Order: sequence, then structure tokens, then C-alpha cells
Amino acid sequence: MTLSGKRILLIIGGGIAAYKCLDLIRRLRERGASVRCVMTSAAQEFITPLAVGALSADHVFTDLFDRQDEHDIGHIRLSREADLLVVAPATADLMAKMANGLANDLASTVLMATDKKVLVAPAMNPRMWAHPATARNRTTLEADGIAFVGPARGEMAESGEAGEGRMAEPLDIVAAIEGRLAPSARPLAGRRIVVTSGPTHEPIDPVRYIANRSSGKQGHAIAAALARLGADVRLVAGPVNVPDPAGVKVAHVETARQMKDAVEAALPADAGVFVAAVADWRAEGETGQKIKKEEGKAPPALQMVENPDILATIGHHPQRPGLIVGFAAETQNLVDNARRKLAKKGADIIVANDVSHDSGVNATGVMGGDRNLVRIVSADGVEEWPEMTKDEVAARLAALIAERLTGE
Ligand SMILES: Cc1cc2nc3c(=O)[nH]c(=O)nc-3n(C[C@H](O)[C@H](O)[C@H](O)COP(=O)(O)O)c2cc1C
Repeated sequence: MTLSGKRILLIIGGGIAAYKCLDLIRRLRERGASVRCVMTSAAQEFITPLAVGALSADHVFTDLFDRQDEHDIGHIRLSREADLLVVAPATADLMAKMANGLANDLASTVLMATDKKVLVAPAMNPRMWAHPATARNRTTLEADGIAFVGPARGEMAESGEAGEGRMAEPLDIVAAIEGRLAPSARPLAGRRIVVTSGPTHEPIDPVRYIANRSSGKQGHAIAAALARLGADVRLVAGPVNVPDPAGVKVAHVETARQMKDAVEAALPADAGVFVAAVADWRAEGETGQKIKKEEGKAPPALQMVENPDILATIGHHPQRPGLIVGFAAETQNLVDNARRKLAKKGADIIVANDVSHDSGVNATGVMGGDRNLVRIVSADGVEEWPEMTKDEVAARLAALIAERLTGE
């Protein structure tokens, strides 16, 4: 109950991401906060006051000139009877109004009348977010002391659209709220943690490459979970289709060699979590030209050379982080191989997961799937965790890392 007794005034703007507010309200109430909501008239085109009221268990305020509401509470008290105002989704329009001091509906009037901290979660089309007017408004709002969470980069609700502008996920907004109202819920504040995630692609020629089945789901979930605990997370991501987690600085790379360089560039760090499935080998002497298939000619023989071992490099690095967590995807002798890796790679913890198809973890297996079955191997012994979702594994591992780093 990290937000026990805290009062949140949630101002919901008119964007597609308004539906995510229903989950946000639930998550805030689960943590003990009371949530009172104001909806713009555009917001009511996307979700209903009935749904918002059912989840918040409070009256929903929509109209500046509603005589009954004004008599009962009034727009001034509405803004004052809160510990924090959260605007989510913050549309380009709402940001423009806030930056310019407009007060022509209930939401904007409440925002003008408040003396409380305000947190804004923008959500809009990437071109709207990149527009100079929005950039100007953001600068103005930041100068006014207003905090931002997101937006994240990734797929937009509109099909075929991708870029920066997605609203931060509800749990990331909750973490930003906790950061303001309950700093003790962020034990990793001030700690830098490097995380790698996803596969690497090793080119054979300009159009072909060697890859593996890693989706990046587990590594990205761990980066997000660490950020929620307040860490300054540097995520080095191979080519994946999952969106960048909110509140995380991401370096996108393709090959093992690029991943190693990006990890070294992120040092010094308090901890390193190496989740990426880095290709062990690459094709030697990758050609600058596409290899042609020629009539009567034998298929080309691929000569492989070893890639740098990122975990071992950082495990024995002059700037070695104090805590190193490696992942070992194995199909046999899980624990023995993990134990061997601990010593050889200079890691403190190895998270061993069985990626064989008969591991029993859902039909698709661990790689690419949403669930994981892991064992935690360290000098203290082997801890077996039950099968969980990758988000649950991430939350539990982030808590373990916080415990190791802070000694609490
Ligand atoms: C289908 C649809 C989706 C929209 N999504 C967004 C959005 O995500 N972000 C945004 O800034 N505006 C979006 N708009 C435009 C806003 O709804 C419009 O600017 C509105 O005036 C915002 O009102 P408000 O800021 O008072 O809520 C969308 C409009 C439509 C029709």
C-alpha cells in the first residue's frame, strides 16, 4: 500500500490512450490511493464517465458550469483537495492550454487553480509530439515545474504508425506518482543499472543475417521493473518488436560487437543485468556485396568466428559493476551449466532458464513466449522460482537486485 491515504486528482484528456486510465485508476487504488477524476468533453468520446466512476468509486467531474458539482465541491476545492494532479492522457491540446494559461473548461480551470504538484503523461501521434509547438509547450511546462512521464516510443493505436508519442504504461505512471508521493517505494533511486535485451543479428552479407528466437520481452520487462524502483536504467537492446520501456534510456544495436561497445559506454554502473541472447558466433569476413546464387556453383561455406563474450568481459572489467546478473538459456544440465558460468564469467547471480521445447512452459516455449520458469543460482545456492509471467519474474528479480544493492 505504497500510496495509502494519498489523494490523486486524475485529469483525463481526449486521446485514444484514455482507455489505459481505467487500468491506471485500478492500480492506484490497489496501492491505497483515492482517485477523483475530471474528464474533458473529448475524453468522454473515448471512455464513459460511468466506467471511470465505477473504477474510481467517486463522482466524475465533467462540467465547469454544473451547478450541483460547483455547489458540492467547486473547481477550486477540487484542485486543492488533492496531493497530486495527474494529467493522463495529456493531449497536445491540453498541453497547449496549460502552457498558455487557458481556463475554458473544467480540466484547464482546475489546472490553473491548483497549488499542487502536477504530473503529465503525454499521448499523441509522433508528428504531433515532434511538432515545434508541442516541443515549445513542453519546455514552458517544465520551466513551470510540471513533471513528465513518457511518452514512450513504439507502435501507436493507429495502424502502421510508430514513433515517440505512446502514453507511458499505467505501471510506469504509478511509479512516477510514487516517486513524488512515496519516495521509499523507490529503493533504487540514484543507482545506475545497465540491462541488455533481445537477440543480436550477425550479418552474412548486406541482406542476410544469423539471428535467434529471443523476443526481448524478458529483458525489457526487467528494465521497466528496475526503472519502477527508481533506477537510472540504460537498456542496450538488440533488434526487437517490443516498445521501449518508459523512463529508460535505450541504445538500439544490431550486432554483438555493437552491444558490447554500448554496454561499455554505459559504465560505470552499480549493476549489470545481461539478459540478451548474444550470438556466440558471426560469419567471418562478411561481404559488402550480396552473395549471388550461381548456376552449377556449390553453396557458400560459412566460416564462423567467435563474438566477444559480453557477460565475461564486464565480469572481469576494470569498471566492473558491483553486482552482475547473467542469464543462461540452457536446454540441458541447467544448474550445472549455470554454476560453471558463475565462476567463469565473473557473475554474482545466474538466472538459469530451460528453453527446451519440453520445458513445460506454455506451448510456444520460453523464447518468444510470455511465461518463464527460472532458477536463481548464486554463491548462496540454487533458488527455484515457480512458473510466472515474464513481468512477474522481472518484478521479483528487480526486488532481489534492490535487496542486494541496498542491503535491505
Ligand atoms: C480518434 C481520435 C483520436 C485522437 N487521439 C489523440 C491523441 O492520442 N492525442 C491527442 O493529443 N489528440 C488526439 N485526438 C485529438 C483530440 O481529441 C482533440 O485535440 C481534442 O480537442 C482534445 O481535447 P482535450 O484536450 O480537451 O481532451 C484524437 C482525435 C480523434 C478523433
